Amino acid sequence: MTNKTAISELSKLPTHIAFVPDGNGRWAERRGLPRLHGHRAGAENMQRMVTYLNEYPIKYVTLYGFSTENWSRPQDEVDGLFHLLEEFIITYVPEISKKGIQLRHIGRLNQLPEYLQIAIKNATELTSKNDRMTLNVAFNYGGRGEIVDATRQILTDGIKPEEIDERLFNSYLYTRDSPDVDLLIRTGDETRLSNFLIWQTAYSEYHFTKVLWPDFGKKDIDRALLSYSRRKRRFGGL
Ligand code: IPE
Ligand code: MG
Repeated sequence: MTNKTAISELSKLPTHIAFVPDGNGRWAERRGLPRLHGHRAGAENMQRMVTYLNEYPIKYVTLYGFSTENWSRPQDEVDGLFHLLEEFIITYVPEISKKGIQLRHIGRLNQLPEYLQIAIKNATELTSKNDRMTLNVAFNYGGRGEIVDATRQILTDGIKPEEIDERLFNSYLYTRDSPDVDLLIRTGDETRLSNFLIWQTAYSEYHFTKVLWPDFGKKDIDRALLSYSRRKRRFGGL
């Protein structure tokens, strides 16, 4: 089904969708282009997808942009990804803001280059009052690192062991202002989580597709939403 109206009339849309947008490098390699061209095409697709999801509307979208493990890629690819995010922010955030989208960063901000930290902080401040949709950008993000950071902060705050429960722990995660992930979509023909939102996806539905991220379009997201709407989520019950 590619008819958005028909889908939005379905009773069950996910509140929170998370994306592992994989396959940018292969997309470029198949065209004989440098990998960074694939990342650029991926960033452009990000913008199209966010606009499309905002129309549904989907309330929360989280994108995996750069993992704490991606530092091991060649330096020029790492630098290229950083500059691409800065460019993406400068080009699209005013537009994103007009659409009522709030941009948030999740991950370890202070390890990123200063120019990028400034761009991210400006973008989050500019959009902080928007409430139509929240867009979490995971950049220098790792799920295990997030749990470690939360634990450190809980201890720093002097929380007593008996005060710690799942709700409190959740309130210390980077994603504290977003609900659990309902639907996780990974493109690029890999079926793993890669240290993404490991706490928040405990009961998510997963959708894996062979489509490479720059080619992932409206009909692909509609297919994922339709398949999600047909699933019965029981959360351990019957
Ligand atoms: C995903 O695309 C984007 C990032 C990790 C930033 P890849 O760069 O992993 O693309 P492939 O897997 O090499 O095709
Ligand atoms: Mg990959």
